Amino acid sequence: MKILVTGGTGFIGSHTVVELQAIGSEVIIVDNLSNSNIAVLDNIEKISGIRPGFEQFDLADQALTANFFERNHGISGIIHFAAYKAVGESVDKPLHYYRNNLVSLMNILDGMLTHGITNVVFSSSCTVYGQPDELPVSEQSPIKPAFSPYGNTKQIAEEILHDTLHAYPQLRAIALRYFNPIGAHPSALIGELPLGIPNNLVPFITQTAIGKRQQLRVFGNDYNTPDGTAIRDYIHVVDLAKAHVVAINRMINQNMKKPLEMFNLGTGTGLSVLDVIKSFEKVSGQKLNYVIVDRRPGDVEKVWADTSFANNELGWKAKSTTDEMMLSAWNWEKALAVNEKSNS
Ligand code: UFG
Repeated sequence: MKILVTGGTGFIGSHTVVELQAIGSEVIIVDNLSNSNIAVLDNIEKISGIRPGFEQFDLADQALTANFFERNHGISGIIHFAAYKAVGESVDKPLHYYRNNLVSLMNILDGMLTHGITNVVFSSSCTVYGQPDELPVSEQSPIKPAFSPYGNTKQIAEEILHDTLHAYPQLRAIALRYFNPIGAHPSALIGELPLGIPNNLVPFITQTAIGKRQQLRVFGNDYNTPDGTAIRDYIHVVDLAKAHVVAINRMINQNMKKPLEMFNLGTGTGLSVLDVIKSFEKVSGQKLNYVIVDRRPGDVEKVWADTSFANNELGWKAKSTTDEMMLSAWNWEKALAVNEKSNS
């Protein structure tokens, strides 16, 4: 089967491409490379032995997207990752976020309707739950007002899917609500490639340990949690990628219970920032240089997933331990350092 993966050179996208290729799917990637690197294609090919198809353009461009669908036939399903994802940046550039994240989804849905493509998997986020009243958070938990324009794009995108599927009953969609994806492929050939200073915890930890950053700042130790630092549900990117393969197969094999389904993708375990640091120190054998500073504005205190619906319905479960996730992230950072050295 032929699958279009938008944002397929990005962090989660590239890992998903590899898993799709492993089950024999033909993959075509569309990415504008605004937050990724063309060299990812070489590394995907090194892992799988197959170079995915690739086109570089902006899916927020209606004419270019329509033209892509005119030229590419036989697509069985779409996995739509392409989006901006930096929470803080979205506060400063809201229109940038609304335009990119929502217009691209609408252009893709237009292409699906025009060309009879019925299946789309959408990258959503646990950010749609805000700070939940009850933990763990299940798919039935209320959607809270978004904390950021980025979070709002995920909420609105789910509404766009809901309304479009209502109007066009031939369409089906699965929204996967990711918790905190971390780690890298075991080959250390693909992983997270933050542009500039990382926003997220794990790349900041590994960059500090390798010497690219001086010190990690831990944002707040006065939360209502056992050690005072904020709690998240960290999931290995390879486990997450595998869930996309299950989701696309579920649609293509017509096993869905409703035209639009939502699933939480996490491990079900909450870890504090200090837990993550401890795991890193254990697997890397080094002490991390960190300091406790004030809370980061907009951060929720604690969130972790009730994964029972995803586990039971998809027959999928996140398998990796925290140490495995942190070791893979560290191996990836070290491999990047070796590459940078040999290129300099
Ligand atoms: N943290 C630090 N220091 C850092 C970076 C992060 O202490 O340098 C802390 C944060 O305060 C938070 C935890 O580490 O408590 C995780 O932070 P991340 O930035 O890695 O992840 P977030 O949970 O803030 O954000 C992630 C995704 C978003 C998504 C959000 C939903 O990056 O796309 O989860 O909760 F919207």
